[in-house]
Amino acid sequence: MNVVIIGAQWGDEGKGKIVDYLASDAQIVVRFSGGANAGHTIVRSGEKFALHLVPSGILYPDKVVVLGSGMVIDPEALFRELEMLESKGIDWKGRVLISDRAHIVLPRYSQMDREAEARRIKPIGTTGRGIGIAYAQKASRDGIRVADLDDPDRLANLTDEDRRFVETWAGQLLPLKIDLAAFLREHRNAWRLFEGAQGALLDIDTGTYPFVSSGMSCAAGSAAPGGIGPRHIDRILGVFKAYTTRVGNGPFPTEFSDDSPGSLSQYIRTVGNEYGTTTGRPRRCGYLDLVALRYACTVNSIDRLVLTHIDVYDGLDEFEACVAYRIGDRITQDFPASIRDLARAEPVLKRFSGWKTSLSGCLSYDELPLRAKEYIEFIEDFTETPVSIVSVGSDRAQTIVRESPWIR
Ligand code: GDP
Ligand code: IMO
Ligand code: MG
Repeated sequence: MNVVIIGAQWGDEGKGKIVDYLASDAQIVVRFSGGANAGHTIVRSGEKFALHLVPSGILYPDKVVVLGSGMVIDPEALFRELEMLESKGIDWKGRVLISDRAHIVLPRYSQMDREAEARRIKPIGTTGRGIGIAYAQKASRDGIRVADLDDPDRLANLTDEDRRFVETWAGQLLPLKIDLAAFLREHRNAWRLFEGAQGALLDIDTGTYPFVSSGMSCAAGSAAPGGIGPRHIDRILGVFKAYTTRVGNGPFPTEFSDDSPGSLSQYIRTVGNEYGTTTGRPRRCGYLDLVALRYACTVNSIDRLVLTHIDVYDGLDEFEACVAYRIGDRITQDFPASIRDLARAEPVLKRFSGWKTSLSGCLSYDELPLRAKEYIEFIEDFTETPVSIVSVGSDRAQTIVRESPWIR
């Protein structure tokens, strides 16, 4: 069975936590896109792990994890992360595999990424990890894949400096190389999780272009870049926060306009610890945008939603969520492609009462207070998508499953 997990907003929805939780029932986890721009946090019995390239199933001793064909891999960052895992007692050897179709991020790409940002009148606010450059090289057919590392003809195209770099790492990368499609065919009866990075609104096609990342973070990106055909996806889960965050630049219709000390924006950033896992940048905060979430559900065929961070609202008397945009003199519930329209979209807000009690110890949906359930049920009605998992804290244990994704 193949279960896909993607971010349904602008990233950092809690994908790492949810993949880690669901991986207990899987045998294989394939990360299908992105690179070291991602930061997936897992908290296991109070111990925190920040993963950037290694798929989130790695903390279990028996899971096999694969860096998929859609990924762009910085070898230095990968082996630094594997060393970090080893220092925390995680034995990864024999369990971390890399698709031979994945691309390599060369050291100069980071510099090129920063230079491209400096040239832009409106910078994207990239993570500076060379991700856009790696995908551009791939699209222009000048990239280097893991499969090319022992092919002298492919390496002949490289400059001496680039060739020296890949030759330095080839010895460590090649033993991890697999043919992903063949591997997944061989393990066709295994339960497999496909872990997305970034989110639907950062996807190169469905996101808020050009303020997006450069990979396929949409559900469709789990198919070819994940090593299976689209017909073999059994379930698609979309992870979203009770509110919205965004790191970097670009339109964000529900962003709080007031970010001064004592504001709701700062309250949420502090309670939700909304600082980037990769860059440490403070995340921009705003109310839940149901227009954007419904769009993400539609273009990704999301079967079930996973709600995270609802505990961050525990202390609020009331809060709001966006149910439509006012763009000029037009009201719409459709998510526009035009950046200009999105930038001037004013959210039409619906008010909800808070529950004023801690959700962090709730173990079942029935234990949630009525007002929290009312919020969840409104989201389900608006998006026409059931919420099957509710996360009430960062720890693995703080997860309420209403319906297992592994049931066909
Ligand atoms: P990802 O990129 O989607 O994996 O998300 P990140 O790890 O970048 O950011 C999510 C942050 O929220 C991490 O620090 C998680 O430990 C934390 N987190 C995940 N789920 C919850 C939740 O339900 N409540 C709270 N308060 N924190 C959560
Ligand atoms: P995870 O997987 C949040 C954002 C950057 C920037 C834009 C382009 O942890 O959810 P890039 O370096 O990819 O060229 O930057 O995309 N971005 C993310 N924001 N979470 C992420 O990943 C992100 N990966 C990239 O902040 O706005
Ligand atoms: Mg993240």
